[in-house]
This record gives sequence, C-alpha cells and structure tokens, in this order.
Amino acid sequence: MAKNAGKGWDPVAAWYDQLVGKKGSDYHRHVVLPAAIEMIGNVRGARVLDLCCGQGVFVPLLLDAGAKEVVGVDASPRLIDSATERFTDEPRVRMLVADACLDGDWADGSFDAAVSLMAVHDVPDLPAMCHNMAAALRPGGRFVAIFMHPCFRIPRQTHWGWDEGRKLQYRRVDRYGVDLEIPIVTHPGKGGGSETIFYHRPLGEVLTAFGAEGLAISETRELMSHRRSQAGGARSKGEHRAAREFPMFLAIAGTRLSPT
Ligand SMILES: C[S@@+](CC[C@H](N)C(=O)[O-])C[C@H]1O[C@@H](n2cnc3c(N)ncnc32)[C@H](O)[C@@H]1O
Repeated sequence: MAKNAGKGWDPVAAWYDQLVGKKGSDYHRHVVLPAAIEMIGNVRGARVLDLCCGQGVFVPLLLDAGAKEVVGVDASPRLIDSATERFTDEPRVRMLVADACLDGDWADGSFDAAVSLMAVHDVPDLPAMCHNMAAALRPGGRFVAIFMHPCFRIPRQTHWGWDEGRKLQYRRVDRYGVDLEIPIVTHPGKGGGSETIFYHRPLGEVLTAFGAEGLAISETRELMSHRRSQAGGARSKGEHRAAREFPMFLAIAGTRLSPT
C-alpha cells in the first residue's frame, strides 16, 4: 500500500459500515446513488469496477441493472470483509483489498465501466488513481466519479452565512486554490473516534487528473442536497434558495479514450 492509503478507514470501518448500511446513508440514497446509476448508463451484461467501494453500497444497484460482474476494490480490509460477507451468496461479485493508487492486476483493461463514489478526496494520489481507473477500462469504457464539490464543500473551509441586509444565505469559502490535507475525526463513541484525511484539490486539478489519463468527461452534474431547512420564518426563503443553488457534490461521467 502507498503511504496513507485508506489511512484511517480501517479503524472507522465499523462506524462507516453502520452509517451506510445496506441501502446507503441519507445522501447516498437521495442524491449520490440515483445520480451514479443514471450516469453510468446501460450496464446490462457489463463487467463493472467499483473503485474505493467501501462496504459495497453501490453494488446492489449495479446487479439490479444487470451487470454481469462487479469487482470492488478498496484499501480497507475491514470494509472489504464487510462487503464480502454481504455478497457471499452472489457469484457475480468479487471484492479485493488493494490500493487504488498503485498498479494492480485488477487494472487490466477488461472492464466495461468503472465508478468511484465519494473517494476522489480520500485518495492521497489522485493522478495515480485516475491512471489505474483508465488502465482498468477497455477503450470506450464508461466511468463515473462523484465526490464532494471542490468549490463549495471543503471541510472546515466552507460555511453557510446569512446576509441580513440582502436577506440571503451565502456560501463562504475561506480557502480554495491550494491542495489541503484536512484531518477528519469521525464520531467518537459510535465506533469512530479515529482520523481520516480529506484531500482537497482545486477543481481544475481534479478534472485534469481524469483528462490527463484519457478519461474524457462528457457529462457533469452539480448535485444539490435534498435536505431543506425546516426552520421556517424569515430566513426560510433565502435558505431554500441557497440549498437549491449551491451544489454539494460534483458528478462527472465519460469514456476512456483509445490510446493514440
Ligand atoms: C467515503 S468512503 C466511500 C466508500 C464507498 N464508495 C461509498 O460510497 O460508501 C471512501 C473510501 O475510500 C477508500 N480509500 C481511501 N484511500 C484509498 C486507496 N488509496 N485505495 C483504495 N481505497 C481507498 C476508503 O477505504 C473508503 O472505503
């Protein structure tokens, strides 16, 4: 494993597994998974790679959509154990412990499609992950990646604020145009209490990491949170507008170009 590969995810695996469960966290169910399954397109009969698959939350959707085989790759042995156990009776699923940023036998050009959900900001070496995603796909193979929006959702560096004069809720961005390693402490007492690292990179750097490896983006969606303030009152109009207009996640999809 590369230095920092999946750092912190194994100690918090039980917490994450419980948070996500069989059907996904609130954001998975309402926003991320529906977008991912739409954007990956037709996977009937396809071999699909789920890179940084965690405990395999996306796998059932791929199977329901008719995938011939789903291979999950993740650096956390505990999350892979959990996924393996969940799909033990499903011959179409194979789970591997591997570092997405290092070369591996799995990156063999045989996949028709590849996804990576909520992990672009968890890997220490994004160009290497994109290299391996491209290497795993056959030319023309489709990919989807969904991750926290690099412009508006940077832990501890972006916040909501209220402008009383203009009666609007704004998004404040304190830092943006540099790479940041932000330690995230998961909920102590709920099986967490350990640290993971969030790797912030500016938008151009993220998109270039994909493009540089021949992963050509043909569709981008900026996904809003489904949650709305229940508070009511004077601010609710401004809060609702902000929730509708400031994206939470960035979703990209496209195809692996043929090598020139
Ligand atoms: C936020 S979780 C997302 C998991 C899953 N895709 C989901 O949506 O629930 C991030 C995942 O990235 C994995 N990860 C982080 N760095 C990795 C690396 N270098 N190689 C493989 N997996 C990695 C972690 O182990 C963790 O499962």
